[in-house]
Amino acid sequence: MENNMDEIKVYPATVLRQRAKEVERFDSSVRSLVDRMTDIMYQADGVGLAAPQIGQSKRVIVIDVGEGPFSLVNPEIVEREEERESVEEGCLSLPGIRIDVTRPKAISVRGVDDKGEMVVKTVEGMWARAFQHEIDHLNGVMIIDHASFVQKTLLKTKLKRLQD
Ligand code: CO
Repeated sequence: MENNMDEIKVYPATVLRQRAKEVERFDSSVRSLVDRMTDIMYQADGVGLAAPQIGQSKRVIVIDVGEGPFSLVNPEIVEREEERESVEEGCLSLPGIRIDVTRPKAISVRGVDDKGEMVVKTVEGMWARAFQHEIDHLNGVMIIDHASFVQKTLLKTKLKRLQD
């Protein structure tokens, strides 16, 4: 397998801050984008990847929280449980940075799966966290945006280093 790691866009790349576009046609190019994203996610040892992270401003995500790869096109959170929890997260586009992020414990997400079918999935734990993290990417949101004031202060040096 060729090394695709250098395809991963790192903060402060502009594409990471844009709202990704809806996919309108579910053709073979979407299929190959999903395959490429899945390969890169595994090579990078990540639990998820969003298309903007490889420079494609499209609403496509892949995740694998240890139960096999799952892709979703045009994913949308349709329900959020009130109960929240804080868990430390990392991001392939923010090397060396980990941040406590508070998110709903369970969500329902709707989108088009790899068979081209509209599905609704109700998930919790790692699944819910991965979906929320990746869907954030489609809206130009990164974990640093979830950081508390104190965390942001501590991050300044690390972010500066990524910018240089
Ligand atoms: Co990320």
